[in-house]
Amino acid sequence: MRLDKFLCDCRLGTRSQVKKDIKAGLVTVNDVKVLKPEQHIDEHTDCIHYKGQQCVYEEFVYYMLHKPSGLVSATEDKHEQTVIDLFSQEGRDDLFPVGRLDKDAEGLLLITNDGALAHALLSPAKHVEKEYECHLAKSFDNIQKSQLEQGVDIGEKAMTKPAVVHILDEKRITLTIIEGKFHQVKRMLYAVGNEVVYLKRLRMGTLTLDQELPKGSYRRLTEEETENLRKC
Ligand code: URA
Repeated sequence: MRLDKFLCDCRLGTRSQVKKDIKAGLVTVNDVKVLKPEQHIDEHTDCIHYKGQQCVYEEFVYYMLHKPSGLVSATEDKHEQTVIDLFSQEGRDDLFPVGRLDKDAEGLLLITNDGALAHALLSPAKHVEKEYECHLAKSFDNIQKSQLEQGVDIGEKAMTKPAVVHILDEKRITLTIIEGKFHQVKRMLYAVGNEVVYLKRLRMGTLTLDQELPKGSYRRLTEEETENLRKC
């Protein structure tokens, strides 16, 4: 990869900052000063020093984002702001959201560049749980609850898999599902005669939205959170 990208991935500054630093002679590759930001290096075998300190390359990064409504869950979009636009400071160009939350939905979104972990978490065969808080247009009752618990017809080939429902109050529930069909939660509530007016993802597998994380902010996952996700 390019030397300037490598330094960004090591969190040593934005692309323009690290380019300046390279040109200023602050970077060595295998003890030789390199002045060209575009020079290619091997991140696994080359020994790179920045201002005299050896750089530690992180191949994979993991962030918990508290998605606000109004952003689309995509890496880029011609017309809309995306969740990845929030990560421009990170200087990485390989981040993507693991799964999707609707534009009007909020809550937990895992952002990473680890394709294998994302694939595992999204695989239908893995049945990774997704828990949502739903605010509803109409009163929710035990008939709707048991329908969701048994599985409902949302127009797919099969009924939805049994969900776990907790009633919070008359018009608020939490719903845990193990599938990830397009607009699944909204379609499930519609199928039982209700309507979702607010949707927030609280959990994906073992990863729970940090209550301290303000909407629109993100933080690195801890080692423990990442390890637990790998076991999902
Ligand atoms: N189900 C939905 O309807 N929307 C989401 O964003 C996620 C699950």
